[in-house]
Amino acid sequence: MSINSKNIVHKMSGFYKLCVAIVLSLLLLVSSSQVKAQDATAGGAPAAASTAPAAGGADAEKGKTLFTNNCAQCHAVTDEKVVGPGLKGVETRTPGKDWLHKWIRNSSAVIATGDAYANQVFNANGKVQMSSFPSLSDADIDGILAYIDQSGKPVASAVAATSGGTSDGTATASSASGPSELFTFVLVALLVVMLLVLGVLLTIVTILSKAVTPIATTDGTVVTSSFGQRLKTGMSDAFNNPTLRSIVIWLFLLVVTKATIDGAYGVGIQQGYAPKQPIAYSHKLHAGQYKIDCNYCHTGVNKGKSATIPAANICMNCHGVIKKESPEIQKIYAAIENNQPIEWVRVHNLPDLAYFNHAQHVNVGNVACQTCHGEIEKMEVVEARSSLTMGWCIDCHRRTEVNTKDNAYYDKLVALHRKESKEPLKVANIGGLECSKCHY
Ligand code: HEC
Ligand code: HEC
Ligand code: HEC
Ligand code: HEC
Ligand code: HEC
Ligand code: HEC
Repeated sequence: MSINSKNIVHKMSGFYKLCVAIVLSLLLLVSSSQVKAQDATAGGAPAAASTAPAAGGADAEKGKTLFTNNCAQCHAVTDEKVVGPGLKGVETRTPGKDWLHKWIRNSSAVIATGDAYANQVFNANGKVQMSSFPSLSDADIDGILAYIDQSGKPVASAVAATSGGTSDGTATASSASGPSELFTFVLVALLVVMLLVLGVLLTIVTILSKAVTPIATTDGTVVTSSFGQRLKTGMSDAFNNPTLRSIVIWLFLLVVTKATIDGAYGVGIQQGYAPKQPIAYSHKLHAGQYKIDCNYCHTGVNKGKSATIPAANICMNCHGVIKKESPEIQKIYAAIENNQPIEWVRVHNLPDLAYFNHAQHVNVGNVACQTCHGEIEKMEVVEARSSLTMGWCIDCHRRTEVNTKDNAYYDKLVALHRKESKEPLKVANIGGLECSKCHY
């Protein structure tokens, strides 16, 4: 009997070695897949970049870069609406390439000509103004269109999504990072399960091996205690086993460290914060359904640092007559009668050490409110959609071209920059990464 049990123990420790091997290889895989993911986000053209021949000779590869840098914050290549409509099949529904060239370079000019299609799209999208891209050539735009066309083909993204983004050449920007994230997640989950199994097995092995070996005492006699008794000693020994203890301690440390790091990064970040406001004011109703311009209430956006929250008398322009009887509107009246401001709860708030200016971004930079705040006009209650971290600011400054059109201030800078580089002038090039620009 004792031989048999020893055999079992022996086999189990073989299995245990196998487990260790699997855990180690999983660890390797996780780290290498993370390196790959970083490569894909950090450096130039990701490995998944396309080699497929582009329609009509337009450069879809370059189009992809242009799209990612200029359009992706507002458009998806699918049907999905972001700020602007999803661009899948856009060439067939718009009046044609010429129209698209003009539209993308300066959409408001096309709208101003009274062009029926342009006005229809503009109105259908809540009159949100698309940014202008005067620096894009016809070839650039054709490249973007080729890229959109190519990524709209369903096979490409479907294959990429199931193959873990490894092989297919036409993966889109989002699917290139998507599957590798999922892949990492699955690997990590497997790793944790294997570690747990390993711990349990190790405990069993220790307990059993103690239980089947008769305990020899120092004077050479063999203590023939019962199997149950030996099992008991085995168990207490298992808890004293240094390997087992260190595995448990390491697991514990790993979890605590991860939680601490996540927690530390989260300090002061209010993404997703959507407090209840003292009056049930709705942007969805006012800015969405009634299409009241953001400027009408946030009068500072084009002029100064702060967008400003409207005073009660701006509400009274309308609510002096509209829906006076509503208890919510009565709260506005009460505030005015008592000469007390309405105590709106602040949603976005940078720490004092950082300087952010609305006019610079909205008026000079021509950045749409939605790029930073999300689709406010669809929110019943305002929610912070961006993290407002330093990384978020810097990231956009690296990606975004300066809106230099009709701005004499930039003429010299542009000329200088052209001499040094072929890349378009980015915010990063005009000092958008300098500490002192954002920190007092
Ligand atoms: C700041 C957000 C924003 C950016 C950046 C942006 N767009 Fe748009 N785009 C819109 C909005 C909003 C509309 C809908 C029309 C409107 O409201 O003016 C639109 C409409 C369009 C349309 C017409 C769509 C249709 O269904 O007819 C095309 C084409 C288009 N954009 C292409 C582009 C391209 C190409 C780029 C990048 C070079 C780009 N857009 C960058 C916001 C944006
Ligand atoms: C009729 C007036 C009105 C209009 C129009 C309006 N807002 Fe507001 N907005 C308010 C009021 C009042 C608050 C404060 C209460 C709240 O947070 O809901 C506010 C809050 C906000 C906040 C959050 C401020 C904070 O505390 O951080 C943002 C962002 C915002 N508005 C953006 C917009 C954008 C973008 C538009 C245009 C699409 C817009 N608003 C149109 C009245 C208006
Ligand atoms: C340009 C006109 C206009 C302005 C300015 C305006 N509102 Fe309104 N508001 C409306 C309209 C129109 C309705 C819808 C009335 C209805 O449902 O019959 C409305 C509805 C509301 C309601 C819902 C009332 C209810 O019981 O259904 C609230 C609350 C409200 N507004 C608050 C505000 C506040 C607070 C401000 C100032 C920050 C403001 N409004 C500024 C036009 C305006
Ligand atoms: C480039 C990004 C960006 C754009 C574009 C932008 N905002 Fe903001 N917004 C911010 C940041 C960052 C804050 C927090 C500012 C602070 O705490 O000092 C903020 C705060 C606000 C607030 C709270 C009050 C204040 O001024 O601090 C309102 C209201 C607001 N934004 C409305 C708007 C509207 C309306 C537009 C479009 C006309 C707009 N924002 C465009 C980034 C942006
Ligand atoms: C969506 C893109 C975007 C985001 C997000 C953004 N910015 Fe900017 N920022 C711009 C653009 C575009 C300009 C260039 C405006 C111009 O032409 O002067 C700019 C310019 C600036 C400048 C002036 C730089 C200079 O050298 O003139 C400062 C300061 C600045 N941003 C601060 C911030 C801060 C702080 C944040 C984060 C809280 C932020 N920005 C987030 C797009 C962005
Ligand atoms: C484009 C604007 C911008 C630039 C450029 C910038 N910062 Fe920041 N920085 C911010 C914002 C916004 C915050 C607040 C972030 C938050 O609350 O999470 C911040 C926070 C910080 C903090 C506080 C720590 C923290 O994470 O809250 C330090 C320290 C800092 N920045 C140092 C620097 C240094 C050093 C440079 C130059 C190499 C620099 N920053 C350049 C926008 C900027």
